[in-house]
Formats: sequence, structure tokens, C-alpha cells
Amino acid sequence: MSLQPTQTNMTISNANPQTSSADWWRQALVYQIYPRSFMDANGDGIGDLVGITSKIPYLKDLGVDAIWLSPFYPSALKDGGYDVADYRNVDPKIGTLADFDDMTSACKAAGIKVIVDIVPNHSSDDHEWFQAALKAGPGSPERNRYIFRDGLGPNKDQAPADWECMFGGPAWEPVGDGQYYLHLFDASQPDFNWENPEVRADFIKTLRFWADRGVSGFRIDVAHGCSKKVDEILNSNKLHSQEEIASLSLKMLEGTLDDDAHPYLDRNEVFDIYREWRKVFNEYSPPLTAVAEAWVSSKRKPLYASADGLGQAFSFDMLMAPFDPSAFKKIIVDSLDDAAQSGSSTTWVFSNHDVIRHATRHALPDDGGYHETARKYLLNKGKAPVADLELGLRRARAATMMILALPGSAYIYQGEELGLFEVAEMPDEERQDPTFFRKPGVDVGRDGCRIAMPWSGEGKNMGFGPGKRPHLVQPEGYRKLAVDVEDKDPNSTLNLYRKALGLRHELQCAEDLEWLSDDAETVHFKRPNGWEVLVNFGKEARSIPSNRKVALSSGDLVDGAVPTDTAVWLLPA
Ligand code: NOJ
Ligand code: CA
Repeated sequence: MSLQPTQTNMTISNANPQTSSADWWRQALVYQIYPRSFMDANGDGIGDLVGITSKIPYLKDLGVDAIWLSPFYPSALKDGGYDVADYRNVDPKIGTLADFDDMTSACKAAGIKVIVDIVPNHSSDDHEWFQAALKAGPGSPERNRYIFRDGLGPNKDQAPADWECMFGGPAWEPVGDGQYYLHLFDASQPDFNWENPEVRADFIKTLRFWADRGVSGFRIDVAHGCSKKVDEILNSNKLHSQEEIASLSLKMLEGTLDDDAHPYLDRNEVFDIYREWRKVFNEYSPPLTAVAEAWVSSKRKPLYASADGLGQAFSFDMLMAPFDPSAFKKIIVDSLDDAAQSGSSTTWVFSNHDVIRHATRHALPDDGGYHETARKYLLNKGKAPVADLELGLRRARAATMMILALPGSAYIYQGEELGLFEVAEMPDEERQDPTFFRKPGVDVGRDGCRIAMPWSGEGKNMGFGPGKRPHLVQPEGYRKLAVDVEDKDPNSTLNLYRKALGLRHELQCAEDLEWLSDDAETVHFKRPNGWEVLVNFGKEARSIPSNRKVALSSGDLVDGAVPTDTAVWLLPA
């Protein structure tokens, strides 16, 4: 595949009237790091902060504006670090606070901002508050920081309700004294009681702690889950069944649920928390940013993304979309509309640490929906349905060039810039994701997108670290995708991302978009400064519109035309 040379003598304006230091996030390129799998400096097989610092030149060269770190806090790793034992510290397996400070200073020197993950819905059961709650017993203030309730029946040995947690199995866990605690995720992740002012105050302390250490923003985990009203439901005897909860959750996602009808998701009280946080964010200059991980209907998303709340909310529709022009166009229109309603900007994302990598997702047949197909593929260890990885990569490159040219911010996930595929096959004993253990034979979980980065095609551990083998070891197929291999190939995915990110910077402009065609087999739009994007999904090659020159192409052109599964960025000739 060949890339067209980057144009250096562009004649179009790149003035972006909306860019000011306070607005840096609006069209930022954020690179997500899953710290344990990024770079292992001390050779214990686990990625660490010193490793991240050592790769800042790589990130700068790639052209990212910010890095978002998935949790690096002390954790027993029952859920990849989303089980936090201490919110204001670094896991000794990953480094120290001093390493964190070194990393942020090095990022600052490189002009890269740092975003950290805040996990407010639940802590780890190792958290000192939860340990204190277990000791203190029923009715104590310590228990009131979490959601403990009495069991049902004369012996209090039945769960308060039969709700299921997101990873499979019961959501209420007995503690042996007649009480149960609620956990929407793993049993090792007890949910906080956000009606307790102590919980609120402690999270504000956490936000300030990281902001004072130089962090520019936060990614808020399960932002739609914190506020809960379980008692009305538990006491009503009406809604104990998981079936009813599941149906409420579905309606909530579709946007057909009445406000506050769900006992623990997307309740209006949650915005009080974020309004309080916003006041803290605005004490900093520029104000801190936040992006909500909120799986809610598009009707509700603007409430999370509002300027007096978190400011931005992830748009996840692209994660689940097939490689299809009409699906993409609808998502683009809807997401831009959602963001406009709150004055926010959209976040485009194709891959993260929770979903099958998009180079593989787009390699799979779209039968029964992408999620279902991906699940089957992983369960069958990559044997069925069969993936066409070459096709998947070609499509992933085209789709990525499409989102990188859209108005709004874009989030890329470590390794996608290499075109890494999802690792479907690995020995069961290597797996770490709780989904694998809690849903045996139903779901294998997310380990396949969390494999160690391949930095070198030849080196020990593919350059991940100098000592022990990586905790999630790379398959042989990652060698040819390693950074030092792709670095030398001008047509590699890495060099495509580098060129795209560089050009994106130069061309960034006002957050508008004009559709140039309603052709059912293309996505074709332009930005206010004339930056044009044409993606061809049809079998026939598309010719380049007249008076345009190709600034970048996701794959080879054929006789000067754009073949199928290929995207081009065009500029006025
Ligand atoms: C969303 C995170 O992205 C995911 O990795 C985690 O398992 C859940 N929230 C629970 O924290
Ligand atoms: Ca290490």
C-alpha cells in the first residue's frame, strides 16, 4: 500500500476560531494507555510508569495531544485495575508517585496532556473503607459508605434481590452476618453509596490530588451508575426480578424509559455530583476536563456532557457499528447532534480496552450483529466465524481516517496505530478478565485486546521488557506489526497514523461538516476549510473529484481512483 506524500504547501486556511487553551480538548487526539501492557521498564513482566515515560518520544512523534491512562492505582487486578484499593496512590507493581510526577513532567515538556481514570461507582474490596465496613458490622457508619442491605427470609440468607452483575452472576454478595452488599461489577468491586457526604468529599479530594499533580482531565468510569435508589425498589416488593431490571436497562438505552425509573442507572441525582465536580474543575486554569463513560440513550447524553457537568461524554456507537456507509453516516449525524445540544464536542472511538480491536471487528462477517459475531469468534478461539484479517486492517485504516477528519475529539487505543488484531486464542490459565471466570463458556472476556505492546520484531519479549515474559504475552503474528518493523515501512499502519495525526493538526478548523454526496456507497464530507474526506465502500473505484489533490490515502489508489474499503483526504488542487 502506498501513501500519497503529505502536502506541505497547503493553500487553505487552518484557522480554528474555537481553539483556546481552555478548549484544547474539543478536537484533541487522545491516546489511551493500558499501563500494564504498554512498556515494562523493570522487567517484571508488567508495564509500568517508567516504561510509559520512556515512550514519550514515541507518543510525541505519533502526534498525540493527550494520553489517558487506564487505572494505575493499587489494585488486586480482579478487574484489570478498575478495582481500586487506594485512589491517591500508584500500584507498587506499576511504580511510585515519584514515577508519576516524572511521567507528567516529561509529558508536559513534550506538550502532551495527561488524563487519568476515575472509578467512582465502586472500589476494590481491598479498599480500607470496605475492610472497615466488614469489621464494623450492620448499621455502622462504615457500612453506610457502601450499599449494604439485610438479606431476606427468617435467616436473612437470601439476597435482597436476584439482580445480576454486569460480569455475570449475582449482584448482591453475602458477608456472613445477614447482610449483603451491592456490586454492579465483580464481587471484588463493592458499589459506593453516593448519598453519603463522606464519599462525595473523598472523591473531591481525589480529583484535587491528581489535578495538583499536573493532570489535565479525567475519564469517568461508569458515570451513569453512581446514584442509586435501591430501597424504594427493595421495599416495594414489586421489582425484585432481574428480568424487570434487564428490561428497564434496555429501555434506558433506547431512550424510552421515564426519568429515574431505573433503580441504579442513569438517574437524575447523578448530575448533582458532576455539578459539584465542575466547580472544582473550574478552579484550575485551564479548567480540568472530563469525559463520561456513560452507556445511556442519546437523549440523555447531553446531560452528562453539559458545560456545568462533565463537559464531554463518549459516543460509543462506532464501537458497535458494522463497516457500512449508512450506519456510519447516521452515527456521525446523531453524535454531532448530541454534542451540539450541550455545547460539547463529540468523541470518536473505534477501539478501547473493553472491546474487540477494530482491525479484527471489521474482519468478521456481520451476521447477527457485530457484538454477537465477535463473541462467537472469541469463544471459538478465532476459528469460527473466520476472520479476513487483511480485509479487516484495510477497513480499519479507512474507517480511522474517516473519524480522524470529523469535527470533535478522537480517542485511539494503544496498538491500533500498529493495526494490531484481537488475540482470540490464549491458554485459559493466562486469562485475567473476570468475565471469563463469571460467564464460563458464554464470554471469554477482554484480554485479547490487552496484550503487551510489540515494540520490536526481534528483541526479547518483542521489546516489551527486558526480563520476564509479558503478563499477557504477544502472539507470533505481532512480530511483523512491531513498532521497529512498521517504523521502517513507509506504508505501514504506524506511518499512516503518524501522517494522519500530523495533517489533522495542520488542518484542524471549526467544528462543522458539510455532506458532499448522498451516494449510498460512500461517505463524503468536507470541513469548512475545504478538507475533504471520501471513503469508498462500493465495489467500483471512485474517481477523485476535479480540482482536488490527494493529501493522504489509507491504501493504494487504482489508476488514480479510490478503490473499495479505502479512504482519501482531499484538498483543493
Ligand atoms: C468500564 C471499564 O472500561 C471496564 O474496563 C470496567 O470493567 C468497568 N467499567 C467496571 O469498572
Ligand atoms: Ca514492570
